[in-house]
Amino acid sequence: MLRLVLPLATFALLTGCLRNDPVPTLPEAVVGHCRYTNPFAKLEECRDYLGEWSEKQAKDDCASQQLEGQKAEFVLATKCSYPSILGYCILGGGTKFTRIHLPGSDDTKCAGSERGCEVFGGGLFDPAPICGGKVSEGGGTGLPTYQPPVLFCKDPMPGEAAGKSANGQVCTWSMISGATEPGRDFEQYSDCNIVRTQRPYYGAPTNMNATREDPRLNDPAYKAEIDWMKKEITATACVCCHKTSAPNGASNWHVDQPGNFINGFYDRGLAMGAGWINTVGFGAYPVEQNNGFSRATPDRPDDSIFVTTDPARMKRFFEAELAFRGKTKADFAGQVYGAGPLDDQRFYVPKACENGEGVDEAGTLTWIGGRARYVYVMEKDAKSPGVAPNLDMPAGVVWRFDVAPTEKQGLESGSVTYGNTPAGAAQRFPAEGSPAALVTGREYYLYVLQDVAFPATRCIFTKR
Ligand code: HEC
Repeated sequence: MLRLVLPLATFALLTGCLRNDPVPTLPEAVVGHCRYTNPFAKLEECRDYLGEWSEKQAKDDCASQQLEGQKAEFVLATKCSYPSILGYCILGGGTKFTRIHLPGSDDTKCAGSERGCEVFGGGLFDPAPICGGKVSEGGGTGLPTYQPPVLFCKDPMPGEAAGKSANGQVCTWSMISGATEPGRDFEQYSDCNIVRTQRPYYGAPTNMNATREDPRLNDPAYKAEIDWMKKEITATACVCCHKTSAPNGASNWHVDQPGNFINGFYDRGLAMGAGWINTVGFGAYPVEQNNGFSRATPDRPDDSIFVTTDPARMKRFFEAELAFRGKTKADFAGQVYGAGPLDDQRFYVPKACENGEGVDEAGTLTWIGGRARYVYVMEKDAKSPGVAPNLDMPAGVVWRFDVAPTEKQGLESGSVTYGNTPAGAAQRFPAEGSPAALVTGREYYLYVLQDVAFPATRCIFTKR
């Protein structure tokens, strides 16, 4: 650590505060990452080795981070990942960088993290949005840019039957709510790297105290239900994160849990499986576009969070597990909706714009809250959009465009005029041609997202 840090520390002292220095463009290559305990803060940290590190150099650096009595864990080829970070501390230069992730969500720790990084560590602090940062590689959200779903059509795996799509292919959406054909493995027919950008993904422990060895598995009828469940899940995108082979570990429950995997669920997860907690907000495909799989939708709000070929059987399965744990619907009476921030966004009721947001005489769009990847102008009484594929285009959209996920950054306020889809973006509504002209004096709903699930501006303006 000292080897790397000292020259930069000297630099930091000479130049004083580094805060306003631009963050350098970091190399794309990820040699690996290292999780360890920070010697000053005594908190967990994690560093990415970016650029021209050899595997050995990275491993040695990781070993040198190890404090007595603590672990330092090196993992090849993947980046650190936390559900929330205060920012990055960037060390190094040229073609070889170390990017330290500073986990946390408490904004009172921002100043301390910046000082720790710049004064003691000799690095450059790149704040996450929580700490006042604006733009990062995720377009300002601190998370990877959301990748929209793609329909993958592939030849069947060797030894598997012909697929049901044209030319015997198997077609599968790369989407959290997507499923491949029953009996096949989602991971082989789609792309989990896309799926894992579609919600915050991180490893999280299963229900720790659960008994894994479960005599119920000796009952053939029960065992058949468990096997059916696992087969259903294997065909869906849930395996992208709910499986130990996911890059940062499994999130909460996982299909490859030894013993009875369902015992690794928390009660709340079971209640979402049973449809006792409403999970409509997570989004769903129509069954005919999803290889016969469905889940809860606004039409069928009591269906499971699980994407299944047999919604009634799926519900029954989870209701039986809840009954086995002695739980009833009444135990979840206070938890009506399960999709958290996605539900808050879906039910959001906009107020009048206050900060000059809207569309002015010249047609220029103004918003606040950072760069934009998704921009909607809607009728005043349109419902707030939710997530794709079924909740993101409510009735009343007048104009919508999406910035391509390959664009490094979203668009700045003031850079768009009404009806002119900017370079690097695609118009989503209307499907073709120009949007209807806005009527002077009429009210509209301006809805701007930094990225999916990260609202920037949501308010009602009057067209001047
Ligand atoms: C992109 C990653 C990802 C995908 C894909 C994903 N999940 Fe999750 N899931 C998570 C994370 C992260 C958590 C929360 C872990 C925690 O904090 O305990 C979670 C938690 C859950 C829970 C437990 C909720 C609770 O409160 O106990 C259920 C149930 C669940 N997911 C169902 C599903 C289903 C069904 C699918 C597929 C349709 C799915 N998930 C797909 C990442 C994912």
